[in-house]
Amino acid sequence: MEKSAFSVSGVVTKTECLKPDAPGLARATDLLRAGRLVAFATETVYGLGADATNARAVASVYAAKGRPSFNPLICHYASAVAAFEDVVPSALAMTLAEAFWPGPLTLVLPRRPESKVAPLAGAGLDTLAVRVPAHPDALALLSAVARPITGPSANPSGQLSPTEAAHVIAGLGGKIDAVVDSGACWVGVESTVLDLSGSGPVLLRPGGLALEDIERLIGPVALVEIDPGPLRSPGMLASHYAPRLPVRLGAISVMADEGLLAFGPPLLGAGATFNLSERGDLVEAASRLFTGLHWLDAVGRELGHARIAVMDIPKVGLGLAMRDRLHRAAAARA
Ligand code: TXA
Ligand code: MG
Repeated sequence: MEKSAFSVSGVVTKTECLKPDAPGLARATDLLRAGRLVAFATETVYGLGADATNARAVASVYAAKGRPSFNPLICHYASAVAAFEDVVPSALAMTLAEAFWPGPLTLVLPRRPESKVAPLAGAGLDTLAVRVPAHPDALALLSAVARPITGPSANPSGQLSPTEAAHVIAGLGGKIDAVVDSGACWVGVESTVLDLSGSGPVLLRPGGLALEDIERLIGPVALVEIDPGPLRSPGMLASHYAPRLPVRLGAISVMADEGLLAFGPPLLGAGATFNLSERGDLVEAASRLFTGLHWLDAVGRELGHARIAVMDIPKVGLGLAMRDRLHRAAAARA
């Protein structure tokens, strides 16, 4: 296995590609415990892992992503017990953790004063976003490291979230120490972020766990304005989910100089088509959303396409998260 080379400024020049087997995970564990950056798969998207208790490691996450430093990161844990050592869980938080962890749900809760998570990881807020991911490789890594691990999506700020190791390498190769290649992420959109630090639950970001599933358990959840404005969840910047080509939503016809992101029976006449789900299955579609955008962006730029046209996605279940990401992708160019 090749060694990473660090310059004095902490810039990595070589990114190791690790297998999720025992030696690969042991290497990833060593790197993380040493304050290095390791991208790893979760069920949602690949996260950029760093020891959240190591301020320098956290700073290098922001540096590698080129991320605005006011944007707080999610801390990942192997169990709810471990997560609740850093935040104070309400009864509601415990109910949700019991029902949906491990899984694509992030809870924002008051940070414990004694938490060792670097303040920079939470962007100096008195709350912390915590999550227990469902991917077995992520859980194995998190329990071996036995520290909270940051996990913003492992892409340069303003670009699409990676759902395959190749996406990570394309965006961050040479800027991070390693990526553990666990194949494709099966949920494919980021976790649902729920703020439980105020008087009632507030949805900060629709995501891989459908709002309907949460509301079935705990009743109505307030929504924040999806439009970027004064942001409660600063990560919801419009540009956050943008491919390089412009995006046109709600396509009911398509032109030869456009790539088509289809859902259900596809429109005909596009320069290239990626079908999220031929049979109109929202779960399948969500799992393929970022892969489709990555692909249409790459192929479209090769073929000289003007833009990516997107067919309408129904406003139910994971469709909500997909529509949110697509609106951001389109808004970034408006
Ligand atoms: O599925 C996911 O959540 C992926 C995988 C890797 O786990 N991670 C991810 O992280 O999407 P990131 O950093 O790209 O998104 C974190 C979201 C952002 O919208 C951020 O603003 C919000 O969570 N967030 C984090 N801490 C917060 C806090 N204390 N208060 C409010 N929002 C917070
Ligand atoms: Mg992201």
